[in-house]
Amino acid sequence: MWNFRGTFFALLQNYHYFCLIIGQEPRKKNDMGKIIAIANQKGGVGKTTTAINLAASLAVLEKNVLIIDADPQANTTSGLNFDPENSDHRTLYEILIGKLGAEDALIQTELPKLHMIPSHINLVGAEIELLDVKERESVLKKALASIKDRYDFIIIDCSPSLGLITVNCLTAADSVMIPVQPEFFALEGLAKLIQTIRLVQNGINPELAIEGFVVTMFDGRTKVHNQVVAQLREHFKDMVFDTVITRSIRLSEAPSYGKPIILYDVMNNGTANYMNLAKEVLDKNEASNG
Ligand SMILES: Nc1ncnc2c1ncn2[C@@H]1O[C@H](COP(=O)(O)OP(=O)(O)OP(=O)(O)O)[C@@H](O)[C@H]1O
Ligand SMILES: [Mg+2]
Repeated sequence: MWNFRGTFFALLQNYHYFCLIIGQEPRKKNDMGKIIAIANQKGGVGKTTTAINLAASLAVLEKNVLIIDADPQANTTSGLNFDPENSDHRTLYEILIGKLGAEDALIQTELPKLHMIPSHINLVGAEIELLDVKERESVLKKALASIKDRYDFIIIDCSPSLGLITVNCLTAADSVMIPVQPEFFALEGLAKLIQTIRLVQNGINPELAIEGFVVTMFDGRTKVHNQVVAQLREHFKDMVFDTVITRSIRLSEAPSYGKPIILYDVMNNGTANYMNLAKEVLDKNEASNG
């Protein structure tokens, strides 16, 4: 019997067929080697969901992508079907404490163009162990130097804290993408994050740019959601992505199957939302690259 899902996923592995299906022009190659940290110290705003699904969408758009799980909660790691308990001690922790080179911790995910550096709960310890290290804010940046050129994009999922590991992520990054859940206090929470970004810009990483704010878990029927998005656009203008990620049960289910939404439910709105976000990121970067 003809297996629709199987056939669809087989086609998905071939980007040109995928473009035909979704009615998009295949993109030209344009190597950028860009590191984007996904950060917001507010918990549960969609950082991990955005990191996984943006990275997967970029990989489907034929970019070579590395996703780094920089959160001891290891949600990106398990969300891409890798057991953090089964890491064989080859995770970001070992890289940060200098026991391992970045290339030794790379994992192939289900998508051919998406690699991952996993996390483990022991990453918490790196916050303390790094305190005695010289140039402790730049450890990740130095570690990634040897592999940066292999990838078009490196996406880092940060933890909901502004501790030393997140500062390492912001120091290594070329830009920071900020997921915002459209709730009443969303804008107030952003002030602290922007202050941290300014501190990093004024000190260790003057080149750090803001990639943009992305609205997550949006429900157009909710008045406060529309109000917060309007305020965000008024305040941050074109720094807010046009693409809005709508609320979708399927997006929240996908990690428990160890899959990005595009491999879990290709017809879901979440797939279209994150593909659109990836295309906006590509357009923005291709424009700024001339
Ligand atoms: N668009 C969405 N629709 C429905 N649920 C979502 C959506 N985005 C994220 N979620 C769910 O909301 C919860 C928080 O999302 P996520 O883990 O991505 O946030 P986070 O910012 O990484 O959290 P933390 O700060 O703990 O790392 C998860 O259960 C996730 O599945
Ligand atoms: Mg997370």
